Amino acid sequence: MSLMQTRTDALRLDAVRKDFGDRHALDELSIAIAPGEVYALLGPNGAGKTTTLNLILGFLQPEAGRIEVAGIDVGRDPLGARAKIAYLPETVMLHPSLSAIENLTYFALLGGRRIDAAQARDLLSEAGLQPEAHARRAAGFSKGMRQKVGLAIALAKNAQLLLLDEPTSGLDASAANDLSQGVRAAAQRGIAVLMATHDLYRVKDVAHRLGILRAGRLLAQRLTAELSAAQIESLYLELLASQDAAAA
Ligand SMILES: Nc1ncnc2c1ncn2[C@@H]1O[C@H](COP(=O)(O)OP(=O)(O)OP(=O)(O)O)[C@@H](O)[C@H]1O
Ligand SMILES: [Mg+2]
Repeated sequence: MSLMQTRTDALRLDAVRKDFGDRHALDELSIAIAPGEVYALLGPNGAGKTTTLNLILGFLQPEAGRIEVAGIDVGRDPLGARAKIAYLPETVMLHPSLSAIENLTYFALLGGRRIDAAQARDLLSEAGLQPEAHARRAAGFSKGMRQKVGLAIALAKNAQLLLLDEPTSGLDASAANDLSQGVRAAAQRGIAVLMATHDLYRVKDVAHRLGILRAGRLLAQRLTAELSAAQIESLYLELLASQDAAAA
């Protein structure tokens, strides 16, 4: 560790490479995310976003490079690293016959944490689920409601890093907005967030920083405060168009 490095990043990827056969899914990918920072990973289909999340979770092993979660080397201590991570998958599986509160207390317990109904309600509200739904059976929940319960489950874990793979895909504008606010609430508690997303227009509101990935290479990183939503969209389109031209 260099003398310059005074903080422990919640997540560090250093020159990570991942191959599938002779295909480079990720090439020298380096990203660092500070506690409380929300980072949006953008990129077209097949760019390597989900692969990046799977490497961080230790579900895949890199060919080269190093990944650290809250200072823990994922290659050396995958379970220790995973204990610091909350992951919101694209499809959240809930027990249909249990309420939102019961699902949350059950999954929190599986994760080693006992919470009471009042704490469960607080977490569900923080994740954006309307109070009327807290005691309702999950069987009738929309995708947006399931995502919010999933976010509450992730928050209950007291993790230092939250990973989300396209959390707003298939959600209506209002549900996507609620979920984005839940992500910001998590960040305000000091949790670092890495989200893979195609939702260009919401990036400015939800993320502090964005990275544009294409064919496993990070083409650009920017602070969202320095760009308007329209500038984010044109940066994305211009970068991908220029890469396509270079490849042609
Ligand atoms: N298990 C696997 N075996 C072989 N190739 C894979 C595997 N997983 C991913 N790939 C390849 O790696 C590349 C990156 O895929 P990845 O799923 O990470 O992209 P993505 O950015 O998440 O795309 P999307 O936006 O469609 O979700 C693609 O070329 C994909 O075909
Ligand atoms: Mg993906």
